[in-house]
Amino acid sequence: MKAQLLILDFGSQYTQLIARVVRELGVFCEIVPGTMAGDKILAREPKAVILSGGPSSVNSAQALRLDKKVLASGLPMFAICYGMQLIADEFGGKVEGWARDAVGDGCNGQAASVQREFGRATVTVLEAKGAFSGLAKGEVLQVWMSHGDKVTVLPQGFYAALSSEGSPVAAFGNDKKRVYGVQFHPEVHHTPKGKDILKTFLFDIAGLSADWDAGYFIDETVARIAKQVPTGNVICGLSGGVDSTVAATLVHKAIGQRLHCIFVDNGLLRHNEAPEVLDSFTGAGLLVHHVDASERFLSELAGVSDPEKKRKIIGRVFIEVFQEEARKITDVKYLVQGTLYPDVIESVSVVGSSATIKSHHNVGGLIENMELDLIEPLRELFKDEARAIGLKMGIAERLIHRQPFPGPGLAIRIIGDVTKEKLSVVRKADVIIQEEMRAANLERKLWQAFAVLLPVQSVGVMGDGRTYERTVAIRAVTSRDAMTADWYYFPESVLRRISSRIVNEVDGINRVVLDISTKPPSTIEWE
Ligand code: XMP
Repeated sequence: MKAQLLILDFGSQYTQLIARVVRELGVFCEIVPGTMAGDKILAREPKAVILSGGPSSVNSAQALRLDKKVLASGLPMFAICYGMQLIADEFGGKVEGWARDAVGDGCNGQAASVQREFGRATVTVLEAKGAFSGLAKGEVLQVWMSHGDKVTVLPQGFYAALSSEGSPVAAFGNDKKRVYGVQFHPEVHHTPKGKDILKTFLFDIAGLSADWDAGYFIDETVARIAKQVPTGNVICGLSGGVDSTVAATLVHKAIGQRLHCIFVDNGLLRHNEAPEVLDSFTGAGLLVHHVDASERFLSELAGVSDPEKKRKIIGRVFIEVFQEEARKITDVKYLVQGTLYPDVIESVSVVGSSATIKSHHNVGGLIENMELDLIEPLRELFKDEARAIGLKMGIAERLIHRQPFPGPGLAIRIIGDVTKEKLSVVRKADVIIQEEMRAANLERKLWQAFAVLLPVQSVGVMGDGRTYERTVAIRAVTSRDAMTADWYYFPESVLRRISSRIVNEVDGINRVVLDISTKPPSTIEWE
């Protein structure tokens, strides 16, 4: 699918939010680095561009610049924060405030500056024209500011559209060029009219059409896959998670029984999970090859307690089992993966390396030595868009809104080595947490809630006897993207029920504790 609009990223922490708001308005857009060569940007034939904010200062030697070819292209442009300053600078205006290099990844202004503006601010409408024509002259708007530099001299031909106490030019426009800039962030919800301003720009100024919705995406994707794979077979690893479920369902719509889903039961799944996943897929008419590899995984894991070693073994065995099964299928041309947009964005915001905290394993990452081409139907979507597509295709709500479950499964929720007995204990405790969370209507509110089995024995008393048994920890967190997480304080009545049910119903447990650690410095899973 071709993007009508490109978002040129200059490193703002809000770039993905701009894309979200634009897509919510029905315009399909993509994010590319703001420093990309002009020819490459223009080759994508966008009908308009949005320049994001960014942490640098246009007056610094290291400032990220926009290729002059894009500036001269005549494309409608909407520039935010650093983007606005860049436009001002390029078109002959003046930007002042702070000329040192940036610290941090926010919009410019992380360093001290007397004139800087952060957080909530108000702006007054001077000219209700162009992208600002939905506003009324004299109207006062609430906006979210985050900058140190500001435009002090307008470029030739531009007018000041909005002003704030700190910035006489809080927004500017040039109707002839169809170029607009705002000093604040219209994409965040702290700027209530921001979405309206963007809407005016997208539709009235740039003349884009709101043609992107779930139905359109499904039709277009299904037709494209059917054309791409006229003959032969396609394989897909199913995990029961949202991404692989939606991806497989789309491909199934396109090629029917030529899609072979491979479901590897590693023996590390939750209570009843394997039959539920199988039933839901076969019920929907998908062809599923079910491989019960539980014993193989368990024997490979026997006696291993190091978390990274456990993860590596599970990842390796999964690939082995998957490939053995795939080899039984003839004429395989492609592998389906549920990759989402945040994993693939080529953006300056994601440049950089980070330490390996945990070796992640999931049904992705299979391709390395399979010599197959990929079909990634969700490559352009955010998770909630993928969910909307899934719902539209009739996938059960319960599957679409499932909490994430890690590829290595319960093995990383058993501290120490993994045995059948421990799996049975952690499964029983987990079911109780799931049931009580659902009964309290909290499943959608929480990112995850689950049980962790600790290798800690302590003394208790049951009836008249002494017990010396193990401990279960309750882990419940809220999060937006799993990068950070906060522990969730279940209502006391829920905690009481969970704790008394676990010690009464799960043999071998006489103590329940609550994990009250945030991420960072902890992680969500214990291993
Ligand atoms: P951590 O423990 O790193 O987890 O805070 C962040 C999120 O990722 C999930 N997780 C995984 N998901 N394969 C996955 O598909 C993995 O190997 C894996 N390890 C952790 C975890 O459940 C949480 O939602």
